[in-house]
Amino acid sequence: MVARDVLKTGAYYALGAATRLRAVIDREPELSGAFPTLELAKASLPPEEKSGYDSDDMVEVALDNMLKMLSWDYPVVFWLDRLIRQEGHLSLLDAGGHIGTKHHAFGPYLDLTKVDWTVWDLPALLRAGRKAQADGIVSDRINYVEAPADAGPVDVLLASGLMQYIEVSFQGLIDRLAEPPRFAILNKVATRENDDLVTLQLTGKKRVPYQMRHRGRFEAEIRNAGYEIRDFWTIPCLSHRINTHPWLGFSDSYGYVLERTA
Ligand SMILES: C[S@@+](CC[C@H](N)C(=O)[O-])C[C@H]1O[C@@H](n2cnc3c(N)ncnc32)[C@H](O)[C@@H]1O
Repeated sequence: MVARDVLKTGAYYALGAATRLRAVIDREPELSGAFPTLELAKASLPPEEKSGYDSDDMVEVALDNMLKMLSWDYPVVFWLDRLIRQEGHLSLLDAGGHIGTKHHAFGPYLDLTKVDWTVWDLPALLRAGRKAQADGIVSDRINYVEAPADAGPVDVLLASGLMQYIEVSFQGLIDRLAEPPRFAILNKVATRENDDLVTLQLTGKKRVPYQMRHRGRFEAEIRNAGYEIRDFWTIPCLSHRINTHPWLGFSDSYGYVLERTA
């Protein structure tokens, strides 16, 4: 190789490295900002990002993954299977159920003929869910409702990946149902040891407020709402540090099985 070629190759390497570095620098962080309340986090967003999950462009974001059985879904399936065997038949409200993603993912693992499965989500997701059902992408056994109470009394509330986004407390969510369900399964609840914190999560092309709840207060709220924690698990791979505020430490992601005591 002549000296000129060596120089040329070196220049290409340098250019490649610079381009990769630029891509890293330019990439928006997955989690940015730290706010004490959801209202302040929302207020920080420009108008085009305020719709959060409730827009058509959010439907496809991470959809392929959500339709699959993921590692953190196994405890949920374990408990649903137990409850189906114990009760014989279940009615279930899948709150924040997207287009019916978890019904689709759990299908091969559970006898879903024994579950009346209702999905409640935001209007854009319900529209997409009904279309996916018409197109045969999700089961025609799923029922979609505009409001949690429209599902009528249910045995199980499933909230998989909802508590990070929904604007109400656990009690507030229960209050929206027709009746307090006997069981609740919450998964992927983002918690912190010391404080409540809201950050912004880059989801697709926009940022949506992502709540990390003070774990002690959240669990006290569960008990005050008349539920005991029958089981819980942690999801280490969903523990997050806010990219722009690393000194605030990591969140812990939890799953819970709750049974009504009162
Ligand atoms: C991360 S996805 C979880 C989807 C699915 N349950 C799963 O575990 O894969 C969060 C879901 O919560 C829904 N969601 C967010 N805010 C909500 C709200 N205020 N009311 C109802 N659903 C909401 C979103 O539309 C989205 O479908």
